[in-house]
Amino acid sequence: MSKDQELRQAAYEEIEKYQEQVDLDPYRLHYHLMPPVGLLNDPNGWVHWKGTYHLFYQWMPFHAGHGAKFWGHYTSQDLVNWQHEDIALTPAEWFEENGCYSGSAIDYNGELFVFYTGNVKDEEGNRETYQCLATSNDGIHFDKKGPVIHLPEGYTAHFRDPKVWEQDGTYYMVVGAQTEELKGAVALFSSDNVQDWKHLGIIAGGGKGQLGDFGYMFECPDLFGLADQDVLVFSPQGLEPEGMKYQNTYQAGYVVGKFDTEEVTFDHGDFYELDQGFDFYAPQTTEDEHGRRLMFAWMSVPDQNEQDHPTVERQWLHNMTLPRELTLVDGRIYQTPVKELENLRSKEVVEHEVELNQECRKLEGVEGKAVEVQLKDIDVKDGWFAIEFGGAGRLVYSRERQIFTVERKSYVDGVMEKRQTKLLELNDLQIFVDTSSIEVFVNKGKKVFTARFYPDPNNDNIEFTASRQTDFHMKKWKLNQVF
Ligand code: FRU
Repeated sequence: MSKDQELRQAAYEEIEKYQEQVDLDPYRLHYHLMPPVGLLNDPNGWVHWKGTYHLFYQWMPFHAGHGAKFWGHYTSQDLVNWQHEDIALTPAEWFEENGCYSGSAIDYNGELFVFYTGNVKDEEGNRETYQCLATSNDGIHFDKKGPVIHLPEGYTAHFRDPKVWEQDGTYYMVVGAQTEELKGAVALFSSDNVQDWKHLGIIAGGGKGQLGDFGYMFECPDLFGLADQDVLVFSPQGLEPEGMKYQNTYQAGYVVGKFDTEEVTFDHGDFYELDQGFDFYAPQTTEDEHGRRLMFAWMSVPDQNEQDHPTVERQWLHNMTLPRELTLVDGRIYQTPVKELENLRSKEVVEHEVELNQECRKLEGVEGKAVEVQLKDIDVKDGWFAIEFGGAGRLVYSRERQIFTVERKSYVDGVMEKRQTKLLELNDLQIFVDTSSIEVFVNKGKKVFTARFYPDPNNDNIEFTASRQTDFHMKKWKLNQVF
């Protein structure tokens, strides 16, 4: 048996061994992508190819922790129902021995080409990094072509996560990097044939330019046009907390500006975090066949108490966010759950016209483990307004302080912890609860909060409180279980 076959067989045996136990976990999600067993992290190779959505993912099948990653694979026709496919890549070859790390996919003359990082570590922990190519006719089985890029001069071996796209007949690749001066950076390459790549230079970071000193490593870069601007998304490591910003262990965000292929520059404005919540990292986007810019992200953050999640002892860990559509409004990214997610709604809709006056209330028919709750025409007339979920998560808007807060009971020590953002007015909320996750789209996706939280499995209460007076119109749907 080849090493690839051995690894595949071992991974499928793990699924067989633990699937039942995993499925019994009350914190298993109903409609978010998860690993069958083991750990999932970054979305990879996200593409709409020949009418099918393909989402690959960083996968450690052998335990609920990190290690030599595989590429797991899901496909979908409708962004709601997903099929788990054969393993796409196993870390079988010398150039990827310690992991087929993150990367991306493109169509190349009718074939599906994936670019990923071959991660290699020796006994002393010294790293080597290779940007590799694998190709496929059917989108399921891949032929490895091996490394197409070796580490260029000027960088450490923290050099990974190639994202490739085609622009005016040329192929470009951005890679997440650390310079020899230990500054986070985005490196740019170009190619005519996707095999021979030329290193053009650094387009963001490196301790210079508009970002200045901005952390020691950038992971998972992504560059794309949105409206008539260019957007560079990346996940910087090493930023210090600053007021309400940069509260997680590592960040994920974007800059907007103009990408110049001739000058090898990206002239841009401020860096903004994509998500204000606790659990969001390594987002990846693609343009689908309907022209939408769609994003998935990993609903966790590396090194952020990962082993304390209660699902670890059930042999699984982490999940993806919902797929979100990106638009650009006044230079800022707005995120909305893709329209197709309406197909998750059960037929019955619960609707209420609510006026709360210094009270805490449950609303008839409004509870559940897997629900969508929409609030429109919210009018916090005075004081603060809060919604509590299963006694373990809470949203609060303070009109006086103009601050929106998401609180959760920490899965590490049970103490309430919070993330916040400045918000002049609260008008609109779209909330997705899925057993142990919550995604909150504030004011039609201007701000988003994403978090894992672990309510008592028997508590699916939702309670609304106004310290003074708050009015709103509310709709609630139970959402179907697709996993
Ligand atoms: C981001 C990341 C990537 C790397 C992958 C390994 O979460 O660290 O930089 O390619 O995960 O699983």
